[in-house]
Amino acid sequence: MAIDGKIALITGAAQGIGQGIAERLAKDGADLALLDLTEDSLQETKAKVEALGRRTITIAGDVSDKASLESAVNRTADELGGFDIIVNNAGIAGPITPVEGITEADFDKIYAINVKGVLFGIQVAAAKFKELGKGGKIIAATSIAAHDSFPMLGLYSSTKFAVRALIQASAQELGAHGITVNGYSPGIVGTGMWEEIDRGFAELTGAEIGATYKKYVEGITMGRASTPEDVANFVSYLAGPDSDYMTGQTPLIDGGMVFR
Ligand SMILES: NC(=O)c1ccc[n+]([C@@H]2O[C@H](COP(=O)([O-])OP(=O)(O)OC[C@H]3O[C@@H](n4cnc5c(N)ncnc54)[C@H](O)[C@@H]3O)[C@@H](O)[C@H]2O)c1
Repeated sequence: MAIDGKIALITGAAQGIGQGIAERLAKDGADLALLDLTEDSLQETKAKVEALGRRTITIAGDVSDKASLESAVNRTADELGGFDIIVNNAGIAGPITPVEGITEADFDKIYAINVKGVLFGIQVAAAKFKELGKGGKIIAATSIAAHDSFPMLGLYSSTKFAVRALIQASAQELGAHGITVNGYSPGIVGTGMWEEIDRGFAELTGAEIGATYKKYVEGITMGRASTPEDVANFVSYLAGPDSDYMTGQTPLIDGGMVFR
C-alpha cells in the first residue's frame, strides 16, 4: 500500500470530506490522528478506521487555536510514533451573504478557522517535520471557490483564495526540507456544509430548501454531486509518493465545474 505505516493527522475528521479522507488513508495503510471539536463526534470515524485494521487516536481540538494544533501534532508523533502527513481539512462556510452584508464578526470568525487554522497547521507541521528530518506532506482543503468566486459566497471564497496564497508561498519556502504543500479543490460535495449553504440561500433569497444545491449540481459536467470519496481519492494521491514532485498546487477535483 502506498503509505503503509505512515502517520497522518486529519483535522475536521468527524464527518463529511474529513471522514472520507480518514477512511481512504486508512485503506492506504496509514495510522491516523483524528481531530475535531469534540472527541464524541470522532467516534464514528474512529470505528471505521479501526475496522480497516489501522491505529487511531482521537483529539478534541480547535484549529483556530495554534496551541491546540501544536499539542495535536506532538500527541500524534508521541502516541503513534511518527508524523508524515497533515491534512488541514477543517473549515466552515460562514454566512451566505452579499459582500455588502458581511459583518466584522462574520469576517473574524471564518478567517479564524479557514485561514488561521490552515496557517497554524502549516506552521506546526513544518516545525515537527523539520525536527524529525524526514520531510513531509502538508495538504489543505481549498475549493472551486479558491479559483472563482460566486455571488453570496464572497466571504467564504476569499478565505479559500487566501489559503491558496499560503500554499504557494510555503511550498517554495519548505521545498528544500523535503516538505511538499498542496491543496485539493472540491466542487459540490453532499455534506453538512452544503446543507448549511443551501439553508443560507433559502433564508436570503426565499429559494426552496434543496433548490440551490440542485441548481449547482445541474451545472456539473459529470452529472452528479461529488462524494467525499471522490475527493479522498485525490487526497490519497497527494498523501502518497506519486505526488512527490508536485508542490504549491491546488488542483480542482470538481467533476468539471471550473476549468483552468
Ligand atoms: N462540501 C463541499 O461542497 C466543499 C467544497 C469545497 C471545499 N470544501 C472544504 O472541505 C472541507 C471539509 O468540508 P465538509 O463539506 O466536509 O464540511 P463539514 O461541515 O461536513 O465538516 C467539517 C468538519 O470540520 C469541523 N470543524 C469546524 N470548525 C472546526 C474547528 N475550529 N476546529 C476543528 N474542527 C472544526 C466540524 O466539526 C466538522 O466535523 C472544508 O474546508 C470545506 O471548506 C467543501
